[in-house]
Amino acid sequence: MKKVGLVGWRGMVGSVLMSRMVEEGDFARIDPVFFTTSQAGQPAPDFGKDAGTLQDAYDIDALKALDVVLTCQGGDYTKEVYPKLRATGWDGYWIDAASALRMDDSALIVLDPVNGKQIKQALESGVKTFVGGNCTVSLMLMALGGLFEQDLVEWVSVATYQAASGGGARHMRELVTQMGLLRDEVADELADAGSAILELERKITEKTRSGDLPVDNFGVPLAGSLIPWIDVQLENGQSREEWKGQAETNKILQTNAAIPVDGLCVRIGALRCHSQAFTIKLKKDISLPEIERLLAAHNDWVKVIPNDRQLSMEELTPAAVTGTLTVPVGRLRKLNMGPEYLSAFTVGDQLLWGAAEPLRRMLHLLP
Ligand code: HSE
Repeated sequence: MKKVGLVGWRGMVGSVLMSRMVEEGDFARIDPVFFTTSQAGQPAPDFGKDAGTLQDAYDIDALKALDVVLTCQGGDYTKEVYPKLRATGWDGYWIDAASALRMDDSALIVLDPVNGKQIKQALESGVKTFVGGNCTVSLMLMALGGLFEQDLVEWVSVATYQAASGGGARHMRELVTQMGLLRDEVADELADAGSAILELERKITEKTRSGDLPVDNFGVPLAGSLIPWIDVQLENGQSREEWKGQAETNKILQTNAAIPVDGLCVRIGALRCHSQAFTIKLKKDISLPEIERLLAAHNDWVKVIPNDRQLSMEELTPAAVTGTLTVPVGRLRKLNMGPEYLSAFTVGDQLLWGAAEPLRRMLHLLP
């Protein structure tokens, strides 16, 4: 049984990972060692298996004794510990949720329903570092995998609607606090169905602009608004989140000629589901039923939603998808631009397929 070190298991992605591992009985298949950055020596959590005490996550000797490190601790931890650990000659498997190592030549981005074949080849050729993809990229590929697999995609233009959880736990709290404060501001107007709606709106707008809403994490109010920028600004005018779209998609698919993927990434007031609207230029005109068939057949989690108003409203929303592994894709239709231009809309849980799930599955793909 492999000795697997779990780092960052208490954080948001880590907690989702732990609960998925419990649900799937993963702990019966590994010998877990739990690490901490602050509470070494205290009892380890009990996920159905006695794991002794918590180990120091910066103790290179303790990490060296492992077959696998699985970390959700974040990029700073990876940047500090990974080079030191490898420098000792440690040859174990490093599985990471953070983006720090994603584009390293020595690392493979893992999303096995999409690149299972490449993962197998990488393992055979001795790759030891596996990193989860950016959430929007992973969720896009889970949704549109059928088209990429058939090499039908010439390019993709995307507009994202990304949830607060992508920023982190504190961002989610901040969003909900903002929502509450805005609601409290107009409690009287809401209680009176006859109150003037523009007065209600004026009070909300005034409160939003007052500087009284907490914005330590997002920088500006998000509740009742949106933020058309995610992550840092690059010199070419893209946000880093937008840059990842093409870079990671092509790395995951190991394409020979890069498929252009570009668009606008936008933060909205959802809690943990990212949504994405695509314009896809197909390499040839294929029929919608054939497109739906290819998409639906690609993996066990994608679900094609017929392009119907009621079904789209019921099944293609963060409210419907949150907490599930299902990746619905719908609003499929040919656009006015021509028969090779396809629209699609998808929603996915950013903490499941967007973060934790590919990592726990990678654990079981190790030889
Ligand atoms: N960068 C993403 C976001 C997080 O901010 O939504 C998941 O990779």
